[in-house]
Amino acid sequence: MHEAQRKAERLPLFPRRKLDHIPGDYGLPVIGQTFRFLRDLQGMVEEGAEQYGPVLRGSVLFQRGVTLLGPDANEFVLRDQDHVFSSRGAWNPVLGKLFRNGLMLRDFADHKFHRRIMQQAFRKPALSSYLESMNPHIASGIQQWPRYRSFSFFQAIKSLLLDVGASTFFGLRMGPEAKKVNEAFVAEVDASLAIARLMIPGTTWYRGMKGRQFLEGFVSDLIPARKQSDANDFFSQLCRASQEEDGPGLSDDDIMNHMIFLLFAAHDTTTSTLSSIVYALAKNPQWQQRLREEYEELGKDELEYKDLGKLEQTTRVFREALRMHPPLPVIPRRTVDDVEWQGYRIPRNTMVSIVPLHTHYMEAYWSNPRTFDPERFSPERAEDKQHFYQWIPFGGGHHKCLGINFAELQSKVFLFHFLRNFSVQVRPGYRMKYQQVPLAVPKDGLPVTIKPL
Ligand code: HEM
Repeated sequence: MHEAQRKAERLPLFPRRKLDHIPGDYGLPVIGQTFRFLRDLQGMVEEGAEQYGPVLRGSVLFQRGVTLLGPDANEFVLRDQDHVFSSRGAWNPVLGKLFRNGLMLRDFADHKFHRRIMQQAFRKPALSSYLESMNPHIASGIQQWPRYRSFSFFQAIKSLLLDVGASTFFGLRMGPEAKKVNEAFVAEVDASLAIARLMIPGTTWYRGMKGRQFLEGFVSDLIPARKQSDANDFFSQLCRASQEEDGPGLSDDDIMNHMIFLLFAAHDTTTSTLSSIVYALAKNPQWQQRLREEYEELGKDELEYKDLGKLEQTTRVFREALRMHPPLPVIPRRTVDDVEWQGYRIPRNTMVSIVPLHTHYMEAYWSNPRTFDPERFSPERAEDKQHFYQWIPFGGGHHKCLGINFAELQSKVFLFHFLRNFSVQVRPGYRMKYQQVPLAVPKDGLPVTIKPL
């Protein structure tokens, strides 16, 4: 086993560390700054940066740790040239039981091995085949949405993407089986936020673990047939990819764990992104019109893979919404060795966080960062091109999101069908409030009204 990996496996969960030489403040005894962190992460980090600078200690969720701010720090942590930042060490305590051995819960050489195999299910031929099932599903799904009256966009897109996911990920037709898979998955995701984690019937945790058990059985039973199948759904592609290696490939248990984790990684992040985009479009109707014109120019009723690159305006809107509201506002790691950053020694087994949400609003890189301005991503302005790690909604380095192209493709297919059929509004003066942690989602579900064009 890789040396760094061995060290990562041996880290105690609540270590005794000396961080007092680092500027900052632990907040209240025991609970630290947890309430502020949950209520107003962005404000908390901005104040901390102003008071203490870009390297600061703190204490949230019963863990003392260090936050490193700015693009250089993002690069240092995410590129991790010395293999000292463990992703598993940071994520496993929260996600390990529900999303066992998912890709983000693996480190170093082992992670690299699994990632290389999984990448095949994200290559261009695979992505264009997902597009075939997404187009009709999304086009018909949005026709079921209420018109001329307010409804929660967040709930509507969540359930639409679940249905689309059942077919894209598993090749299932909507019906009782897909419904059961979706319910089990939703129970599992809900449980990832549970504080009480005991197997007591009726609790969120219990339902989540039962959901996991159901999905394990469901996925495992299908693996032998999917290995032989030539179907285009994600699951079949992954099963085939697992065998195509010259080396040992992936075990059935690995495939099962990866599938369950992938659903998790894909779903709420895309739901969050589309909520941010639709909110921005409702507040800026001129952008709805610009995107519509872009779709009219294509002159077709379904998007093909080769069209995606032509949708430049849509790409800018996608990027700007992710700048303003990165679904994962904080990315954590745990050190497996002592490290030094900007003259500060950070001891082994320290939680180290970087904060995309903070970097995305730094005035040194972004003009009027609080304004929705997709043109900042145009080639003429190229505000995002000053530092490779200044726009990091998908992370970067070893664990950079595998689903970037998938997420962009799905978002574009949705916007294409949605804006060609409807205009979208929010009530006058409405401002969406975000719950920022653990994922950025609208607190009130984003009430919108849509009207057919
Ligand atoms: C806009 C939507 C999405 C956003 C903002 C997003 C964001 C992220 C981020 C920030 C990470 C890195 C976390 C870390 O370094 O600790 C990540 C990892 C990952 N994402 Fe995404 N994601 C999105 C959609 C998706 C989709 C659609 C899929 C799959 C279809 C996916 C699959 C993954 C996987 C497998 C990883 C783990 C990569 C690794 O550890 O090597 N994501 N994502």
